[in-house]
Amino acid sequence: MADKLTLTNSNRYWDEAVELIAGGSQTNSKRPQGYAPGAFPIYVERGKGCRVWDVDGNEYIDYILALGPITLGYCYDAVDDAVREQLDKGIIFGLLHPVEVEAARLICETVPCADMVRFLKGGSEVTSAAARIARAYTGREIILNSGYRGWGDTWSAQIEPPSGAGIPECLRAMVKTFPRDDNDALRALLERYKGKVAAVFVDVASATAAPKEVVQGMRDLCDEHGVLLCFDEIVTGFRLAPGGAQEYYGVTPDLACFAKGIANGMPLACVCGKREVMQIAKDLLISVTYGGECLSLAAVVACLNEYKDKPVHEAIWEQGRRLMDGIKALGEKHGVPFWCNGLAPQSQPAFNYEDAALNADVWSLFLQETARRGVLVRRGGLLFVTYMHKSEDVDETLAAMDEALAIVAEAVASGDVKQFLHTADIEESFRRF
Ligand SMILES: Cc1ncc(COP(=O)(O)O)c(C=O)c1O
Repeated sequence: MADKLTLTNSNRYWDEAVELIAGGSQTNSKRPQGYAPGAFPIYVERGKGCRVWDVDGNEYIDYILALGPITLGYCYDAVDDAVREQLDKGIIFGLLHPVEVEAARLICETVPCADMVRFLKGGSEVTSAAARIARAYTGREIILNSGYRGWGDTWSAQIEPPSGAGIPECLRAMVKTFPRDDNDALRALLERYKGKVAAVFVDVASATAAPKEVVQGMRDLCDEHGVLLCFDEIVTGFRLAPGGAQEYYGVTPDLACFAKGIANGMPLACVCGKREVMQIAKDLLISVTYGGECLSLAAVVACLNEYKDKPVHEAIWEQGRRLMDGIKALGEKHGVPFWCNGLAPQSQPAFNYEDAALNADVWSLFLQETARRGVLVRRGGLLFVTYMHKSEDVDETLAAMDEALAIVAEAVASGDVKQFLHTADIEESFRRF
């Protein structure tokens, strides 16, 4: 039986953080209230490969992976060497740097829809830029959207307060949401707002993956209605395939947004697309000081070369599949309704107890027991796999989950899961829709 985790330093930092940082964290999904508060690490000190060490010296195999950006592994030599080499030359300049051109060329060679790109810094920035490009190009205002696009006003106008407070009411009418895999609903919206829709925005694979015919159906509907199709590839990009979901599905959008996975954790994002559409961006006020920051661009170049030269995505799919299959088998072994949805490089484990309160407690127990055994996963979040997750790491993970699920089964059978918990009740930290 693993020891109870020592989290003294984590807890001390957090106590100070809540006094100094609004909400305690820069990313709502990283707030500890959403994990297993009191029984799960909060602060990390360093990472290497697929592992991280927390500030109390505990070691874990990590599947949270910064919420997606790490594709090659922490401190991956080829990327870090490229960043160091660029650091010796300078971070950012008043003139342009050739690495911008090199990174753009590689993206255009790798991503099917990309004839041209613009680099920005975060996912929310590029989805907002893509919305502006689509509206400027078509001269229309309405956007049809399915899924999370980030915190920008365009997208969060649909969210109710408190998370959605501070956004002008008038923006609400500008974005209409549709359920992702329901092309009848999409068709109905396209017909209802005929001549007014600039673009359809969608992430075709998130916790679950859209069937291929649905994705092709979206393309066909957009063509039929003369509407742009924009894939949000912020999670799928450079993860499902070097060319993202559009390569995996064989369906090419007009515009696409990339961020996580583009630079193995360095802060960079890009909007890219067909030349005719992207050209409009040269006349728009889309401009940031840090878009040409060279360390991140050097990291993109190194990442894309690794994706080209090494079997990165084959390995990610293989280990992701082993993990998914192992999780499903363990659920069955322990008689626990534990399942894994989605695609192997970004699968989503789920407990399926009908009682929501029981389900929440079971998640807390599972996080508590897997963390004690050196594995980090996120409650209901995607399991991200890197090139550095090898068979032995996945085996170790499944062994930890095996023990954790035995405890879950025992706790549920006892009728009192809470007595097994060393954690406080969770709080919802992030409302995205
Ligand atoms: C599909 C998707 N789009 C957009 C975003 C926003 O990206 P960022 O957090 O970098 O602004 C996210 C972030 O999780 C995302 O998952």
